[in-house]
Amino acid sequence: MDFKDQVKSAVDLVSVIGEYVRLKKSGTQRYVGLCPFHSEKTPSFSVHVARQFYHCFSCGAHGDVFGFLMQIEGVGFFEALKTLADRCGMPMPKRSLAADEDSKLRSALFQMHELALANFRENLRGATGAEARAYLQRRGLRPETIDQFGLGYAEGSGRRLLRIFEQQGFDRSQVEASGLVRKREDGTFYDYFRNRLMFPIHSESGKVIGFGGRALAAEDNPKYLNSPETRLYQKSHVLYNLHRAKEGIRAQDRTILVEGYMDAIGVTAAGFHPVVAVCGTALGSHQVQTLRRLSHRVVLNFDPDMAGAKAAEKYINVLLDESMQVRIMELDADLDPDEYCLERGAAAYQERLEKAKGYFYWMADRARAAQDPNDPDARVAVLRQLVPVVRRIPDKLERMQAAEDLAGYIGVERGTVLDQFRQAVATRQETVIERPKAVLRADERLLLNAFFNLPEIGAHMIRELKPIESIGRFTSRRIFQTIFAMADAGSELRFEEIHARLEEADQNLLAQAVLAEDSETSREDVLAAIESIRRSESLYQRSELKVRIKELERTGNWEEALRLMGELQAIEKEVRDRA
Ligand code: GTP
Ligand code: MN
Repeated sequence: MDFKDQVKSAVDLVSVIGEYVRLKKSGTQRYVGLCPFHSEKTPSFSVHVARQFYHCFSCGAHGDVFGFLMQIEGVGFFEALKTLADRCGMPMPKRSLAADEDSKLRSALFQMHELALANFRENLRGATGAEARAYLQRRGLRPETIDQFGLGYAEGSGRRLLRIFEQQGFDRSQVEASGLVRKREDGTFYDYFRNRLMFPIHSESGKVIGFGGRALAAEDNPKYLNSPETRLYQKSHVLYNLHRAKEGIRAQDRTILVEGYMDAIGVTAAGFHPVVAVCGTALGSHQVQTLRRLSHRVVLNFDPDMAGAKAAEKYINVLLDESMQVRIMELDADLDPDEYCLERGAAAYQERLEKAKGYFYWMADRARAAQDPNDPDARVAVLRQLVPVVRRIPDKLERMQAAEDLAGYIGVERGTVLDQFRQAVATRQETVIERPKAVLRADERLLLNAFFNLPEIGAHMIRELKPIESIGRFTSRRIFQTIFAMADAGSELRFEEIHARLEEADQNLLAQAVLAEDSETSREDVLAAIESIRRSESLYQRSELKVRIKELERTGNWEEALRLMGELQAIEKEVRDRA
């Protein structure tokens, strides 16, 4: 076994995938969930425990544990291997350190971010950090929260990180690629973050990939400076605090989405774990898809001002486009989430959280507030305004229910208005990915599984099956032919090996066969299946022969008819002998 296989057998695919996708057990060997690689409402993503592969029957994504990490984290093979090796405490063999360029760069960038983090944290504890410490204290952060979130301080000198990176022997191009140090026009370098309170930003798996830096003085602009885009940090993909929040999101089946770093920190410190924030950009579909893997439900908790409401409206649209269920949590008294938790306490926040309304009630309230309450047509106007909102709900039943609820909430009587509203809402172009499903017969499935579950009778099966012509009429015939060819070449019949040699459509079929089979394959069943295939094969041959013989007799071709009759008798004798 090479190192890769050792790692693969040491990690459990289900638990690795389970960190990214809510999986449900569905059979002894199978877990299912919503595919993380495309948008869907009903699960077509399956994971097989014994075969250690995943397969999406809708978008076709498939692979083993390395493939999964590569695809979901956007990393190369080497990094996926290293992540998994680290995870099970297996040191990488020396020779594999000769990684590809991209892995080397990423690994250097990770190291630089770790060094930067250590430096920022040290500064915050030291003499230069006095002002930043005082600021954090004023904002009510406890020392353990500061520690938990790895907050730090970037000195004002502008050369601190540059020195550290040079001392550690990183080359110029790596240093520049880190985004932590910038190049001036004249070619000299300087630290990007100066005199700022530093918030480390982590990847989903918990590695530092960037920073947000907050100005300490009110007149310092911009208020927040974030890492530029680097090979590690793509702001449209990142959610602040996700690596800490994901367990809570899964456990509570909801995400609390806030606007700012300080909000994420304050709300977490108050004891609410499933909190994430976007890092100073608009919310994008990629981020929503990440959340959807963990839970479909999201509660927006934005600042109670005009800007917060505007942002919430934008977020709602993006979230609905990705089939999320959206609630809005409103805080009173002009306090943002962080301040609210500090001033009112966790119990009050909890109460607000539980009172969060479905987004369309919130939007109806807003629309209503903007109308003149004395206008008799105001309700109808509000309803009209909400048509586009309700139309965004992807599921038709849910959409109709929302229309119904909303009309009741606004107080529109049954009748033409409601009918019009319903009609307007009823139409929506649904885009559904449907793959034509080829269906395997039970005996095909049984035999294919037997190759993996009962390898000791593999050779026997191949001997018996190979001469049977009717295999060529199986939907899965190309899989069998591949297996036969591999056996001829003396290759081992492992699932991955076979899978790797198949065309996509057949990979799909093989996954179907393996995932659908739930009971233990027994030797007796396999032998009986082979026997019955052989019997139906000879039945088929006999009826074919009989038809041809009749035809020959009709046309007077006696000689040929006699020859075929001999063949027929031979087959019948063979059947009798076997019985
Ligand atoms: P405090 O004002 O310290 O409470 O921080 P906050 O996190 O509550 O910030 P605020 O509500 O003002 O802004 C929300 C988020 O928007 C911040 O956490 C940043 O991610 C982002 N943001 C705010 N100001 C800027 C800016 O000037 N530039 C960039 N790039 N992002 C910003
Ligand atoms: Mn704030």
